[in-house]
Amino acid sequence: MADKHATLTLPSGKTVELPVYSGTIGPDVIDVAGLLKEGYFTHDPGFMSTSATESRITYIDGDEGILLHRGYSIEDLAEHSDYLETCYLLWYGTLPTPEEKAQFVYNITRHTMLHESLAHFFDGFHHNAHPMAMMCGAVGALSAFYHDVMDIRSQRDREIAAHRLVAKMPTLAAMCYKHSIGQPFMYPRNDLSYAANFLYMMFGTPCEEYVVSPAVERAMDRIFLLHADHEQNASTSTVRLAGSTGANPFACVSAGIAALWGPAHGGANEAVLRMLDEIGTVDQIPRFIEKAKDPNDPFKLMGFGHRVYKNFDPRAKVMKASSDEVLAELKVVDPRLKVAMELERIALSDPYFADRKLFPNVDFYSGIILSAIGIPTSMFTVIFAVSRTIGWISHWHEMISSPYKIGRPRQLYTGEAQRPYPSN
Ligand code: ACO
Repeated sequence: MADKHATLTLPSGKTVELPVYSGTIGPDVIDVAGLLKEGYFTHDPGFMSTSATESRITYIDGDEGILLHRGYSIEDLAEHSDYLETCYLLWYGTLPTPEEKAQFVYNITRHTMLHESLAHFFDGFHHNAHPMAMMCGAVGALSAFYHDVMDIRSQRDREIAAHRLVAKMPTLAAMCYKHSIGQPFMYPRNDLSYAANFLYMMFGTPCEEYVVSPAVERAMDRIFLLHADHEQNASTSTVRLAGSTGANPFACVSAGIAALWGPAHGGANEAVLRMLDEIGTVDQIPRFIEKAKDPNDPFKLMGFGHRVYKNFDPRAKVMKASSDEVLAELKVVDPRLKVAMELERIALSDPYFADRKLFPNVDFYSGIILSAIGIPTSMFTVIFAVSRTIGWISHWHEMISSPYKIGRPRQLYTGEAQRPYPSN
């Protein structure tokens, strides 16, 4: 129940009392649902100031650069936790005991294999298909295997679906890569960690032993962890909207993957590397900075700016530290890294970017690390999708667990009013 109200005066002069709700932290929320009976919609393209739901999973304060999962800061999780423990936290709401964690890791590990028929789906994809295109299709296709056995009203069925998704995403992601380079698929290995198993399925071959570097394994796990959830972003909202119709969760996650693909969202880490290639050499940076500042030029600095973070992206700080560690450990010599570092320096000292609060976001650094590890650019967003799966499915679970309505926005119609069809 609301203990505060906002008063709105309508053009007619009538005043309407709107309930105001307070969350644990963050801005208060005005409940405008009652405006419909007064004959009004609210208008907020891009959902700039619209709360679509109540949630207990993740909190972001964009001005202060705070990101909390179930109350724990992303910096603390990156330092003390690991990806699977963070998955447990997001789904169940608490950190696991050692026994609970062991059981969870066991459950995930034992669900990593795919139905063998699913492997044949890949034969239908041309070898140069974008891995995100294959991911959308392959994850959606999981619903064909787990539809009749899935009752979304059952908490246990939802939990099994979550285990399956988190477990199978790395296997599917690696299959997309292997298909694109014509190498045989590698079956998952249960003796490896989540991150190491993914690297093994990506880079191993049946011909020789593949040893995972501990530094790379750590960096991979951290990339997964830092992308695990991010509140009601475009892809999560897509999953929720699709899920609000009662659709199968594997199909909903496939919809989320489609939303993630765009360069304004998850596709940004891939776009960062393409941009670095386009810039080419350090002496070209000033020209591209000018292009980014030109309001008549569509060019933007990829990996800079964020809809919510207007101070700094806390994930970017952790990712930058990780990036420094990996680059030092692997002694990578890549001319793009020189361009990236100089671009970061120049952009951070340019008033255009400072005035608009445009800072490097998590994708700027994750692109650099993934490239150093040897992950091809086209796989970057796929890896983001693997990481974000737990966020998507946790929000879907939270929505289904409480009363919810089908998501159905309204509009401000500015087209033709009704008119007669011409008789001749
Ligand atoms: N390069 C140059 N200028 C930029 C950039 C950029 N990367 N981002 C925003 N601006 C400028 C805009 O042109 C605008 O300038 P103006 O006020 O003079 O018109 C101003 O900054 C505000 O930008 P908006 O587009 O209103 O900001 P919004 O919050 O809507 O967009 C977004 C955020 C989409 C992330 C944008 O900054 C962008 O496209 N960045 C590049 C893509 C990217 O890195 N996306 C990853 C986001 S993180 C993630 O998904 C994990």
